[in-house]
Amino acid sequence: MLNKKVQDAINAQINAEFWSAYLYLSMSAYANAQGYKGMANWFEVQYQEELDHVKIFFDYILQRNGKVELQPIKKVPTEWTSPLNLFEETLKHEQVVTGLINNLYSLSLAENDFATQSMLKWFIDEQVEEEENAQDIIDKLKIIGDNGYGIYTLDKDLSTRVYTQAAPLTANN
Ligand code: FEO
Repeated sequence: MLNKKVQDAINAQINAEFWSAYLYLSMSAYANAQGYKGMANWFEVQYQEELDHVKIFFDYILQRNGKVELQPIKKVPTEWTSPLNLFEETLKHEQVVTGLINNLYSLSLAENDFATQSMLKWFIDEQVEEEENAQDIIDKLKIIGDNGYGIYTLDKDLSTRVYTQAAPLTANN
């Protein structure tokens, strides 16, 4: 059985993961409308991954005989100023999420909740990857500057990203 404090924090995290999914879907729509189809694909995959994060926390609460409480999802931005701005905002957002995961882990330590600590380990590693992915694209965009062919090539690269289900969900299948 989950303790109430941990359960509330995981329910809040479910909302944050839904918000992330919403944010990336909005970014995907924006990129698509600007003609950056590869970036739109990258953000759509990002959106799908966030829904996986929701599902991992959702399943975990139920597995521990807890109560899932879904809350309204706040509005997300709809406008950005450039591809660089899109990915800088992505990195900033992932840094915030890393802080949320770290706070959850601290809470599970304080509450001696070993199972939650174990579940969160996947997310701690995932956040390292999330920040690295956004940083890599920012670095490339900075090298490219306003070179149109460079942007075109990067956009093509980003069109190859494919969604794969998160490992904790695959293990449950
Ligand atoms: Fe659910 Fe992008 O972290």
